[in-house]
Amino acid sequence: MIILAIESSCDETAAAVMENDERLLSNVVNSQIDLHGKYGGVVPELASRKHLEDIYPVVDRALIEAGITLDLVDGLAVTQGPGLIGSLLVGLSFVKALSLVKRIPYVGVDHMAGHLFSVFLGQQKPSFPYIALVASGGHSSLFHVKDHFNYTLVGRTRDDAAGEAFDKVAKILGLPYPGGPIISQLSQQGDKDAIAFPRSWLAPDSLDFSFSGLKTSVANYVRQNHHPDITADICASFQEAVVDVLAGKAIRAAKKFLVKNIVIAGGVAANPRLRQVVTDRGEKEGFDIFMPDTAFCTDNAAMIALAGYYRFQQASTLELDMDVYSRSSLFAAG
Ligand code: KG4
Ligand code: ZN
Repeated sequence: MIILAIESSCDETAAAVMENDERLLSNVVNSQIDLHGKYGGVVPELASRKHLEDIYPVVDRALIEAGITLDLVDGLAVTQGPGLIGSLLVGLSFVKALSLVKRIPYVGVDHMAGHLFSVFLGQQKPSFPYIALVASGGHSSLFHVKDHFNYTLVGRTRDDAAGEAFDKVAKILGLPYPGGPIISQLSQQGDKDAIAFPRSWLAPDSLDFSFSGLKTSVANYVRQNHHPDITADICASFQEAVVDVLAGKAIRAAKKFLVKNIVIAGGVAANPRLRQVVTDRGEKEGFDIFMPDTAFCTDNAAMIALAGYYRFQQASTLELDMDVYSRSSLFAAG
């Protein structure tokens, strides 16, 4: 089965072509970072207009790079939510039009399910069950994943998501959007033990996250002490506080549910320090750690193609009157 997938939930217009769940034939990601950077975050109205401009060329390129035409596509997959409504609508409307004109069935994919299964795009694939930490701009969530169709939300953020904390701290430090990549880069020159920022563990058995206290603590520290010389130390110490909690809670979840495999995914899983700490602690405590290549951690359509493939296995194709949604339906499971 050849699947053409489209992702347009936030600030990336992406398209990918995949054969079954095995072979990625193309993966095109067109980032809008340059457009939103000067505003310090994503401007929804600009995002949807840019998706509208980019979607046709991006899909065209994905087909060309895969060496196929639409006539060879057996199924379409599109991110249905969560995300920015206007942006999601561009992808869904495009897919509906293709589906109608070319008579190709389509499925809607939850963006979070895309992140959850993105690990299967790599060489090292976990067996079920596993605990998945999905840390992105909008979510910091822990899932107990039993198979491709059964996954339960077991922990979530109570305020800011991990990626959001990186983005907000970057803003506090006068660094560009998105904050994750620049903070992880600057952290390499900083001392992670320079400032003891707080870790919010919540109750001893809690699998939820809270990063807004940490963000406030960084803001207070910067107000009192900021000097350009210590930016790298602030970055490294802040990053360490986030990584410590993310890694600690993923392991806590694996222990609680007696699961041996741990997966990390989502944009924040591109963070080299998180990858290293989860790997080291996991190994030390007897867990097997799996993570997608960094290109599949940040938003892409390959993960939507893969999650779409599983939807087709369930025969859950959509009618033409289906709508997008802004919040994840996966949270209903929690
Ligand atoms: O998954 P993603 O691409 O989009 C959403 O679904 O939100 O995640 C984007 C988030 C942003 O908040 C960005 O700052 C963060 O992931 N991010 C990182 C890194 N690269 C991206 N955070 C920490 N370290 C990174 N290297
Ligand atoms: Zn995402």
